[in-house]
Amino acid sequence: MRRGILTIATVGLLVTGGVTACGDDSGSDNDAGSDKKPKIGVILPDSKSSGRWENADRKFLEAAFKAAGVDYKIQNAQDDKSQFQTIADQMITDGVTALMIVNLDSGTGKAVLERAKSQGVATIDYDRLTLGGSAEYYVSFDNEVVGKLQGEGLSKCLTDKGVQKPVVAYLNGSPTDNNATLFKNGYDSVLKPKFDSGEYVKGPEQSVPAWDNAQGATLFEQMLTQTGGKIDGVLAANDGLGNAAISVLKKNKLNGKVPVTGQDADVQGLQNILAGDQCMTVYKAIKQEADAAAELAIGLAKGERKETGQTVKDPESGRDVPSVLLTPKLIFKENVKDVVADGFVTKEALCTAEYAKLCAEAGIS
Ligand code: BGC
Repeated sequence: MRRGILTIATVGLLVTGGVTACGDDSGSDNDAGSDKKPKIGVILPDSKSSGRWENADRKFLEAAFKAAGVDYKIQNAQDDKSQFQTIADQMITDGVTALMIVNLDSGTGKAVLERAKSQGVATIDYDRLTLGGSAEYYVSFDNEVVGKLQGEGLSKCLTDKGVQKPVVAYLNGSPTDNNATLFKNGYDSVLKPKFDSGEYVKGPEQSVPAWDNAQGATLFEQMLTQTGGKIDGVLAANDGLGNAAISVLKKNKLNGKVPVTGQDADVQGLQNILAGDQCMTVYKAIKQEADAAAELAIGLAKGERKETGQTVKDPESGRDVPSVLLTPKLIFKENVKDVVADGFVTKEALCTAEYAKLCAEAGIS
């Protein structure tokens, strides 16, 4: 049920080293209204809520577009909704034939998708579903499973610590990101029964606007003060928010004692895991996500429509959106090495001076 017919591995295999910047951000050689040469526009959301957008998604999408020899433009809206719309308008004027977006909220996402459609530009929701939107495809991971893995990971770490009736605090993702809702559905499915049975105690809960890490730290500090330091586990929705909680725990000499979750398997998250300050992360093979989306976008840009073999129901409109949903993986200290082996982070980036010994202990050589 989860796998599409789409062959997601093919694009990446064609990647060669040393490709020059053809199809890069120069962009003006392709006048709108000419013969509609395939051209793909991508709008990333920001570069602060997670390192993934600039460090992984951009890199893998670029590689896929270059390998296919298709013209493209990738821009980042830097968490600015009006900038997001301006970029979209410019890309449409520039003659993109397919547009891929990671929305900042469903409202602006929807407006951009509709405008593209009215101009005959095909669209893809990349990673985040635009509620009530009109994208031809949605490409992401199974985000409820991501949340479930976070809940299961936290439970395991709390069991390992042997805490009785642990108080669990939630630092949820952005309230305007549909993924944050799905992650929460996932971790609630594991943790709520434990709250209901009295095995765990539900502590404070906050959603962090725009996934802002600095705000996450402030909110977590307030939670810790409010509870008189009585928080035994933190369900943080991604590695950035996990690190925000860890920074506050460090100030209170509680790091390593209170398990904290994460997501994205970014360098800092993996280092926090190796140091014992973070319990787990969720690894999402973004190369697969980028390859799958690029393959669909290239098809759309050429006027072709591929079969994904799966749909996701948009809860707002009830529309069945053709989708590709990939499978996330739970990472504890024991299998941090798998993320390195998959080429997502390099040993050089991860095993810097103070982590070298921890890397060796974790079998990363
Ligand atoms: C993505 C996560 C990311 C978060 C913040 C979510 O929509 O799925 O991977 O950490 O946004 O950028």
